[in-house]
Amino acid sequence: MATRRPARRRKRRPNAAQFEQELIALAQQGQFSEVVAACEKHRRHGPLSVLAMHVDGVALTQLERFDSAIDTLRAAAKRCDAEKNAAQATAIQNDLSKSFYAAKRYGEAIEVLTRLRDQNPDEVTFARNLILVLEESGQLDAALTECQAAVKRWPDDVHLAFQLGDLQMAVESWHEAVDALSIVLKLDPDHQSARRKLVTAYRRLDDQAGVAAALRDWLQRDPDNSIVRHLLSAQESESLEVEALPARASDDYVREVFDQFAETFDEQLKSLDYAAPRLLRSMIAELGLSADGSLSILDAGCGTGLMGDLLRPFASRLVGVDLSAGMLQRAGDRGYDSLECSELVAYLNEHPDEFELIASMDTLIYFGDLAAVCLAAHQSLRGEGAPLVFTLEKWDASGGSVGYHLNPSGRYSHRVDYVRETLERCGFSEISVKESVLRKEAGKEVSGLCWVARKSGSSVRRGG
Ligand SMILES: C[S@@+](CC[C@H](N)C(=O)[O-])C[C@H]1O[C@@H](n2cnc3c(N)ncnc32)[C@H](O)[C@@H]1O
Repeated sequence: MATRRPARRRKRRPNAAQFEQELIALAQQGQFSEVVAACEKHRRHGPLSVLAMHVDGVALTQLERFDSAIDTLRAAAKRCDAEKNAAQATAIQNDLSKSFYAAKRYGEAIEVLTRLRDQNPDEVTFARNLILVLEESGQLDAALTECQAAVKRWPDDVHLAFQLGDLQMAVESWHEAVDALSIVLKLDPDHQSARRKLVTAYRRLDDQAGVAAALRDWLQRDPDNSIVRHLLSAQESESLEVEALPARASDDYVREVFDQFAETFDEQLKSLDYAAPRLLRSMIAELGLSADGSLSILDAGCGTGLMGDLLRPFASRLVGVDLSAGMLQRAGDRGYDSLECSELVAYLNEHPDEFELIASMDTLIYFGDLAAVCLAAHQSLRGEGAPLVFTLEKWDASGGSVGYHLNPSGRYSHRVDYVRETLERCGFSEISVKESVLRKEAGKEVSGLCWVARKSGSSVRRGG
């Protein structure tokens, strides 16, 4: 019986439409490497369709392979022009501009976007993108001119109105920024960035009434916003009765501010010449502690744990406590035995006679009245003579019924005599204070106070 040789199976290639759908699905799922690999494989058997090249170009941009992305998108645009497919050509040129932008090739991005804007005078997206690239490339005047024209053309476009406000801020035209941002808020009263920038613009104008009005209006719109509530109290602190002044920043305020701040905290403090690590080192030296790893230590308001490495050599047990879970997350690998997410006074009250040193850097500036936290720290320290070290911002006022002041920054500053009296009242002695620069703020040095005090009646524990 004659045998038939089995026919050699030839791999069937998917048809072009099916292949394009597969590519689009992969791109929508963010599988950009897979898109590029599939296109490379497909090219071995023949050219890609225009649509496939388009998706390939977008994927290459996402993978930051900008030269290949630009070559691919340019070739796709050329083929599109030849096929006289105007809609697809516009979409490809748009993605080409994004690729140039991502590659920081701003001149070429501006060229493409200017052409797109001229060819599509009713399409707001190209105008917006052009303004954005002009701004990003530092051509602020050109961006402003474009933006002013675009706002005239599309007066109800919130995005453009905000771009105008943002640009007016960038060129430090504060009055114009106030006008532009006020329009944004008429169009969209919940525009959080416009609200924030409006407050800043009034601040730069030194228009305190404007700041207060902007915050009041914001709070009316968003009554649960604890950040705005606190900043409004801070803004109005001069006119508030003492009883109406918050005794400390609310838990919600601290949590929200620092959860937002956590990711960039370390970087930002570096740029502000944050002196706390150096100050803590000198306060520890002043105490004469030895780095023999024998103390139970609390880092009170430990934040991202910038003091962890410094305290570790002195500690048999090092605990960090903070209200912000976001900040604590960053402190994970900085030498703490445990990190507790808790309000500081509550935590201290729940841990009596536990710590032989409490350090609190740049944290009690969120407390106005220091009595509760000093009493709680006293109770939580173990052994007479156990030290408490902390920093505060200095309030240069003389006398008066209140020893602290809530600043427009939302932080408190304190009078030296008030702090000393409070520490004494709460059972501390051997109190010393040194004045020092804490960090910079808006280019100016912030004057701080470094306090060292000991639980009184001490038989002082000092290392060798
Ligand atoms: C400016 S950061 C300083 C962090 C750290 N000590 C440092 O020097 O890098 C202030 C920290 O205090 C925390 N904080 C403020 N008030 C607090 C409170 N009542 N209870 C617990 N943590 C508080 C904040 O969450 C924030 O992480």
